[in-house]
Amino acid sequence: MKFSKSLLSLALVLASAIVGSAAFAQSSTTLEASRGEYVVRLGNCVACHTVEGGKPFAGGLKMAVPKLGAIYATNITPDPETGIGNYSFEDFDDAMRKGIAKDGHRLYPAMPYPSYAKMTEDDMRALYDYFMNEVEPVNLADQASEIPAVLNWRWPLAVWNVMFGKLSRYKVEDGQSEAWNRGAYLVQGLGHCGACHTPRGIAFQEKTLDEDRSSFLAGAQLDHWSASSLNGDINSGLGRWSEADIVEYLKIGKNRFGTAIGTMVEVINNSTQHMTDDDLMAMAVYLKSLPAVAEAGDAPYAYDAAAEVALSSMSLDEPGSATYFNYCLSCHLYDGSGHGEHMPPLAGNPILLDPDGSSLINVTLNGSLRVIAEGRPEHYDMPNFRSSLSDKEIADVISYIRKAWGNNALAVSKADVTAMRDATDPTINDVVVLRMK
Ligand code: HEC
Ligand code: HEC
Ligand code: HEC
Repeated sequence: MKFSKSLLSLALVLASAIVGSAAFAQSSTTLEASRGEYVVRLGNCVACHTVEGGKPFAGGLKMAVPKLGAIYATNITPDPETGIGNYSFEDFDDAMRKGIAKDGHRLYPAMPYPSYAKMTEDDMRALYDYFMNEVEPVNLADQASEIPAVLNWRWPLAVWNVMFGKLSRYKVEDGQSEAWNRGAYLVQGLGHCGACHTPRGIAFQEKTLDEDRSSFLAGAQLDHWSASSLNGDINSGLGRWSEADIVEYLKIGKNRFGTAIGTMVEVINNSTQHMTDDDLMAMAVYLKSLPAVAEAGDAPYAYDAAAEVALSSMSLDEPGSATYFNYCLSCHLYDGSGHGEHMPPLAGNPILLDPDGSSLINVTLNGSLRVIAEGRPEHYDMPNFRSSLSDKEIADVISYIRKAWGNNALAVSKADVTAMRDATDPTINDVVVLRMK
């Protein structure tokens, strides 16, 4: 990784991802992961409750709440004064399922309790035992939220009214296989995949918490990354992926369709790569059962050689094609096929075909966190082009790769790039880059 000025904040974030997982690994006293530790991995508690340089689960991560301000994830170590040391199992259960803290205040749904409400009693007890017995207590006071007082009380009530009654434990679907049910339980519950992949409604609530409605996992934007559709949509969703493709992606962060970028990298680094193959396969079985929604009836992506022919003969009249030739081609190639396991393809890649272009703009401006699978960081990284390319050049090159090689997605505008550049400017103190903070 190159340490240019504009990359500094990304480097810090990367460091925090590594520190977070290393510290977490040491916090376990047993050699084999306890059941509680495995459940913590499934729930990815570390992603929000640990910060760079901080002790595991001592809290502090800043998270933006759209339109309202920011809040901080809390200290959930068993310290009686500043953490959850005084929580009985019932208190813990209420926080996890209903979003009600021990002192009665309601938690913002940035804490994904609507998903955790699906957990079984057994998993909840394993989680509680883990926090009480295997996590080191840390005396560190929570930081106050940065939300104006009036909104501060109105907001949870609004959310509460919308969500109350919908929060319930996972109910086994008798007509479905054991694997399907396990997958549904993990995706809807501990994995809280909908927290990023399901569009949110007016009160920041996820529009639906299971497959009963078509907005489930239909794709959404959070923290300047588009978490693309995980339903059966043939081009921008998982319609062309096999179950094995999904397992591979969640295990090592890439497959023949592409490489994980943005906030998904943290999910893989901290959570899914630690899941058993059976659990990954169960999630794949469940995800593959979700029907196509936006692209029902569309034709699947098919390669078109026109761009390859033009690039090979250096006919670079198409806007964006010269930028591609000069800045991108060495890694992503003439035919957009990438380089085996090292460079992702751009031809037919679902991220390229996502109706929402924000992940593409973000990765081109800022690069991405690196996947660290099995303790080894990926060899190659997407460079950032924040200082070398103008907004117009970036808009043109992205619009170009969204049309080249048979890709068929909408252009992005210069204004979209300018907005993303401002929102992810690493020199602004309060900026939310890459992480849910
Ligand atoms: C996406 C981020 C995120 C994840 C993942 C997450 N939390 Fe939280 N959690 C938060 C935030 C933010 C708060 C504070 C909310 C507030 O102040 O309203 C919180 C609050 C809590 C509280 C209430 C603590 C208190 O001080 O009253 C508990 C308990 C808790 N989380 C446990 C967990 C556990 C256990 C997991 C993993 C299974 C987990 N959290 C995963 C963001 C997260
Ligand atoms: C030095 C090699 C290299 C160059 C040059 C490069 N990329 Fe990348 N690109 C990567 C790698 C590696 C990834 C995978 C993400 C990661 O590991 O950071 C990637 C990911 C992407 C992605 C997301 C696809 C995915 O599946 O992750 C897009 C879009 C992209 N690059 C576009 C571009 C554009 C546009 C340019 C030129 C302006 C460019 N890249 C130049 C190496 C490169
Ligand atoms: C913190 C936000 C976040 C959470 C939580 C999250 N994802 Fe993602 N996910 C993303 C983003 C952003 C992308 C798009 C970038 C990419 O494709 O690398 C993505 C992409 C993916 C992709 C690739 C889609 C494609 O078409 O390329 C899969 C598969 C996926 N996620 C599965 C999951 C599963 C399963 C879970 C739950 C265990 C999950 N995600 C939870 C943010 C998240």
